[in-house]
Amino acid sequence: MKQINIAILGCGVVGTGVAKLLMEKQRLLESKIGASLNLKYVADLDTQTDRGIVFKEGVFISDAKKAIAATPIDIVVELIGGKNIAKEFILRALKNGKHVVTANKALIAEYGNIIVKSAFEHNVDFGFEASVGGCMPVIKTIRESLVANRINSITGILNGTCNYILTKISQEGCPFDVALKEAQAKGYAEADPFLDIEGHDSAHKLSIIAALSYGMQININDIHVEGISRITPMDIEFAREFGYTIKLLAISKNNTDKVEARVHPAMIPSTHPLAHVHGSMNAVTINADSTGETMLYGAGAGMMPTASAVLSDITDIARNIISSAINNRSYSTRVPILGFQDSNIRQIPIMPVDEINTCYYIRLAAVDRPGVLSKITGILGNRNISIQSVHQKGRRHNGPVSIVMITHGAVEKDVQLALKEISNLDVIPDKPVVIRIEDEITA
Ligand code: HSE
Repeated sequence: MKQINIAILGCGVVGTGVAKLLMEKQRLLESKIGASLNLKYVADLDTQTDRGIVFKEGVFISDAKKAIAATPIDIVVELIGGKNIAKEFILRALKNGKHVVTANKALIAEYGNIIVKSAFEHNVDFGFEASVGGCMPVIKTIRESLVANRINSITGILNGTCNYILTKISQEGCPFDVALKEAQAKGYAEADPFLDIEGHDSAHKLSIIAALSYGMQININDIHVEGISRITPMDIEFAREFGYTIKLLAISKNNTDKVEARVHPAMIPSTHPLAHVHGSMNAVTINADSTGETMLYGAGAGMMPTASAVLSDITDIARNIISSAINNRSYSTRVPILGFQDSNIRQIPIMPVDEINTCYYIRLAAVDRPGVLSKITGILGNRNISIQSVHQKGRRHNGPVSIVMITHGAVEKDVQLALKEISNLDVIPDKPVVIRIEDEITA
């Protein structure tokens, strides 16, 4: 049986999971692939910490460069994370004629176009199923299953850590910091949890699936990003009263010559399937012209789910290696790395967030005095922002109370300008809280 040699770079949470799967599922994988996946090297600077795995002699090494350069290696699996050394190792591996698999969404978001070009030039493959949605097969679905579709929009919960925190706050009243610590302990969070909490991890993932969906270059820089750090239990409670659930959403819409791409907390109807995605689970709804709505759901983070996705890429490449060998030709992949033929990948601009039109939840602390509300609604009215409902929470003569407003569809720029004006009123002591309402997502 043909042997495919694999080197894993980085033996952290996911690297350990991939090594475990390669060792524990060897027979199962052989029976499905028709080749044996041989774990030749696992390279990590820390070879002392016990990973609960007994490696064969000479497998667990500290020198990643040795693993990349070794001639028997067919596939290099980069699971170091971060951008510097990981980028260097990936480009080095591709140049050395190795296929590369990674879960490193931050790296792909920033350098994916360069990496894909290099893989193309060196006639090797680059797999990244694990970079978005953990084990949820979103890359394969967009690139292969939905090939006959024009994809219209994508709406996803793509960060397990944030979804875990929001679930813990809303279901158990758990404090933010405690929920974050739990997510870290369970291995969901990035090494720097700021990337999770402030929405950047979701944006990395959105930049990847938007590129695959619309035939555009990966563009992280123009995605509007807001995280969940300003979401309070009070807003979660108000949302519930109005029939909404707050989720950190990654949203993208295909407007052909412009793409909408944004990450921010959003209120969605509590009856929507995405509102029922709890804990570290991820989900994405993909609206496409032939299929209508498709929804994927799965474990978005964690050791074994992510490792499972890495194995799906390794398997694809192993199968391509075998079929190329049978047909006596150089390596050929069936599926273009970014889903579209190279010559059809365009640089489609991302629409500035100022231009989006949606409904808004606005919470203000305002002095409870006659005439205050009319001042606020006057400012909104002057900016063409129509109010669907206004609720005052509590009564405090001449003291601050919460006023919650829900608007009809309005243009973001108008809303931001109005809020700036409202913030300047002497009856508004604090910065208003604004959460977009996504009433029209379908599923
Ligand atoms: N930190 C990520 C998350 C891990 O919480 O979803 C998976 O990409």
